[in-house]
Amino acid sequence: MKNYMKLEIAATGANESFARSAVAAFALPLNPSLAELSDIKTAVSEAVTNCIVHAYGKRKEGEEGRILIECETEERGGEGILHIGITDYGCGIEDVDRAIQPFYTTLSDEERSGMGFTIMQTFMSEFSVESEKGKGTTVKMSKNFGARDTVDA
Ligand SMILES: Nc1ncnc2c1ncn2[C@@H]1O[C@H](COP(=O)(O)OP(=O)(O)OP(=O)(O)O)[C@@H](O)[C@H]1O
Ligand SMILES: [Mg+2]
Repeated sequence: MKNYMKLEIAATGANESFARSAVAAFALPLNPSLAELSDIKTAVSEAVTNCIVHAYGKRKEGEEGRILIECETEERGGEGILHIGITDYGCGIEDVDRAIQPFYTTLSDEERSGMGFTIMQTFMSEFSVESEKGKGTTVKMSKNFGARDTVDA
């Protein structure tokens, strides 16, 4: 079964756990394991946190940017696949190849370790970043759930 959802949220820390739980709940009909659900939640958390702390920087309360979360499910040969797109309209990334390197961070003085993109890459089956300076960034990730019966819901 193909399915989709779109969710727009304010780029504030208060929405970070909501975002990861919403994506995990959306994925449930694909019958993911607890470990797979945990991977998805972690990857979504990292992407949403990046939008809040990097894309929009330190905006004042009430002036938060917005984050668009798009999800699609598909089934291919008995395998469930979840596609996730997380888009912000913030500052963009000048050099994506450099930004996705492990330990690369532009906020090292704020306890950032530069591992967010590496975690997304490791925990998800597919990962890519599109960004334009001054326009924003989209992180695309997919997770394959392995061959097992999916729940019709
Ligand atoms: N949505 C975004 N908009 C603008 N810049 C971004 C965005 N996401 C990431 N970046 C840039 O890419 C760098 C690497 O991101 P990454 O998530 O790997 O590490 P980090 O956020 O700095 O640290 P950590 O995720 O470990 O807390 C960031 O330091 C930032 O410069
Ligand atoms: Mg990060």
